[in-house]
Amino acid sequence: MSLASAGLFYFCIMKKIAVFTSGGDSPGMNACIRAIVRTAVFNNIEVCGIMHGFMGMIENDFINLNTESVANIIQRGGTILKTSRSEEFKTIEGRKKAYQNLKTNNVQGLICIGGEGTYTGAEIFYNEFSIPSIGIPGTIDNDIYGTDHTIGYDTALNTAIEAIDKIRDTADSHNRFFLVEVMGRSTGFIALAVGVAGGAESILIPENADDERLLIEKLKNIYRRKKSFSIIVVAEGEKGGAAYIKAKLNKEFPELDIRTTVLGHIQRGGNPTARDRILATRLGVSAVERLLNGGKNECVGLINNKVCFTPYKDAISIKKPLPEYIYSLTDMLSR
Ligand code: F6P
Repeated sequence: MSLASAGLFYFCIMKKIAVFTSGGDSPGMNACIRAIVRTAVFNNIEVCGIMHGFMGMIENDFINLNTESVANIIQRGGTILKTSRSEEFKTIEGRKKAYQNLKTNNVQGLICIGGEGTYTGAEIFYNEFSIPSIGIPGTIDNDIYGTDHTIGYDTALNTAIEAIDKIRDTADSHNRFFLVEVMGRSTGFIALAVGVAGGAESILIPENADDERLLIEKLKNIYRRKKSFSIIVVAEGEKGGAAYIKAKLNKEFPELDIRTTVLGHIQRGGNPTARDRILATRLGVSAVERLLNGGKNECVGLINNKVCFTPYKDAISIKKPLPEYIYSLTDMLSR
């Protein structure tokens, strides 16, 4: 139940808030925007959207939002507000322009949907200009501390697994070894989950410096068992990704037919899963309620199915632990 509907008193009376999406897009961002706008409207708060993230804040690209403008978007991937990674917002001149535009548009608080870079920008902005904001974790990478899952992660996993199932068919038919590269610039969350759900032989992630050697050992064993095909999941941030690992394996096992598939940006698109839509909706509603109750400099998340808030500084500086046990599972089950 919302705080307003529960009859609780709001700490500060805000009249107008703005929402924007920033960094890489992720499926479920639209469902989140819808929840934010409708929660604001429910509470008689004006709400506008800032196009293209921090860039639109600097360029005064604001649009008014209402119940109708977020109709029929809950199922759509991408973000109706567009997104970008702004270099100009990293400068004080850029942030001054952004502040002026917020003032001109009478915006008193912000809801920012994005990742670590977005939270960093929002925190610096508060320290300089006292514009309160609440962050919402939107990235397929799931690498944000303060929430079990980020918006878009579940959809990306399902997209990748669907692709891997298809690759399996052809890998099996041709007795081939496939290195499937999934997204995750600096973390292996996607690779680990996709690896276990896709029945991978091995999973290579940037966090494990030793996994290349372990893979070679494993392939030697697979050989002994005369296993005909194999799926190996590689995170894009793993040294040079699948192409680099392929070159290594070709040297070690010249007789193996090894292929690579880079799944790339297909993981970022598509209709959000039910799970992502529900997560996005819950986080969107809670973020608005928190902002209206005086929250600032913190991000919302869901831990053990409960809404919680984490200061930006912790979400930025604390590394979210990987589910390490997945490694041992994969190792045991692929023997
Ligand atoms: O941050 C999400 C992410 O999809 C990463 O997994 C990936 O490395 C990166 O964005 C790609 O960003 P871009 O689309 O800007 O190249």
